[in-house]
Amino acid sequence: MPAVKKAVIPAAGFGTRLLPGTKSQPKEMIPIVDKPVIQYVIEEAVDAGITDILMVIGKGKRAIEEHFDRNFELEYSLRQKGRTKELELIRRITDMANIHFIWQKELNGLGDAVRYGRLHIGDEPFVVLLGDTILQGDNNVNITKQIIDVYEAKGGSVVALEKVPPELVYRYGVMDGSRIDDGNLYRVNGWVEKPAVGHAPSDLVVAGRYVFTSRLWPLLDQVPTTVNNEIQLTSAMHLLAQEEQMFGLHFEGRRYDIGNKLDFIKTNLVFGLQHEEFRDELRVWLKDFIKEL
Ligand code: G1P
Repeated sequence: MPAVKKAVIPAAGFGTRLLPGTKSQPKEMIPIVDKPVIQYVIEEAVDAGITDILMVIGKGKRAIEEHFDRNFELEYSLRQKGRTKELELIRRITDMANIHFIWQKELNGLGDAVRYGRLHIGDEPFVVLLGDTILQGDNNVNITKQIIDVYEAKGGSVVALEKVPPELVYRYGVMDGSRIDDGNLYRVNGWVEKPAVGHAPSDLVVAGRYVFTSRLWPLLDQVPTTVNNEIQLTSAMHLLAQEEQMFGLHFEGRRYDIGNKLDFIKTNLVFGLQHEEFRDELRVWLKDFIKEL
């Protein structure tokens, strides 16, 4: 079985839910404490063994490219000033992996965005990571690595799953499947994208990390546009689950969806409280602040 070494990161969407903050700035570049969201995502991929990343971008996303390119003037200036810590931080970004970019010509949905990876990835299994979602596994477990491990053990596509309250299923791709053993692994029968409340096959939803076999590619070409007049990734995943075995892993940890304002604020607080430089001071300040509320 070929090793999973390549990833596709769709990052072309407008970031409508974060306007006006995303009018001229990609949502993936919004910082959580001191790093843009997309850097967390790429660090997760690299830490999971991915060496080659294709980012699917669109209009107004050049800042992402620049973030992962070298900036010689900045490096020179930092070196002159003796700012070695900052110099190391920015150099590390460019050395992480081979990062490639491709432009999605029209915003036709997540399935269409992933489809742009076909030529680059070819026949290998690959990972998809949503560029606006950070996952934090309990005990620092890397969720992308975890689903790659399941793929290597079981041999089919694997999707990270999150449990959501039943009234929120309408926002997600929802799994139809059943638990394999008494652990966290599910055998997937199919998917429903954004079902109406009361019509979902479960409360386990796509959490933004996937491992796919190359059988996905032809299916992405077959599926019609559906929800929101877009080509949905879950439509092709549904067909894939009919063709070969597919698994869902209900991971232990938390998902931070930076694509909406409230979660963005919460995520900054959570990550601030975990940051070794700020956590003590922030905790003290926050406790005082809450007393006054
Ligand atoms: C997309 C997917 C959906 C998934 C969700 C996770 O929806 O279509 O299946 O559950 O991401 O965030 P979107 O958030 O783009 O509407």
